[in-house]
Amino acid sequence: MKIFIINGPNMQLLGKREPEVYGSESLEDVQINIAKFAESLNLETEFFQSNHEGDIVDKIGNAGDDIAGIIINPAAYTHTSVAIHDALKGIAKPAIEVHLSNIHNREGFRHNSLTAPACVGQICGFGTQGYKLAVEAMAKIICK
Ligand code: DQA
Repeated sequence: MKIFIINGPNMQLLGKREPEVYGSESLEDVQINIAKFAESLNLETEFFQSNHEGDIVDKIGNAGDDIAGIIINPAAYTHTSVAIHDALKGIAKPAIEVHLSNIHNREGFRHNSLTAPACVGQICGFGTQGYKLAVEAMAKIICK
């Protein structure tokens, strides 16, 4: 079974970007580790990162029958994107939202997620480990 792991704007800067908030691992390193972990649960992964809302909407909308679920960190679009919410709803596949930081104990504008209501659940505040937790949760949902 295959899953998409999608990261939104500025996530390509992981490791360099506010390391006190987001940690020092690069996105590439994180993705290598997630792929290995997912493989141990018999899940194949396809990674996608974009700084462009429409590209993320397209990626979600183009998820074919071979894609069993989506793990997504919509980054800043979490707080603004009705389009990503609608795309997740539109494909009727399980989605899990991940944030490295705890968006609920940060600035007020980060407290609300427009995309989480289109997801099975949200994992936040556990750094890059959150992606692993999401993969584990996804495996339970789709490997039933
Ligand atoms: C983030 C939290 C968002 O508020 C922020 O805009 C990001 C990263 C996180 O992973 O903690 O870019 O999604």
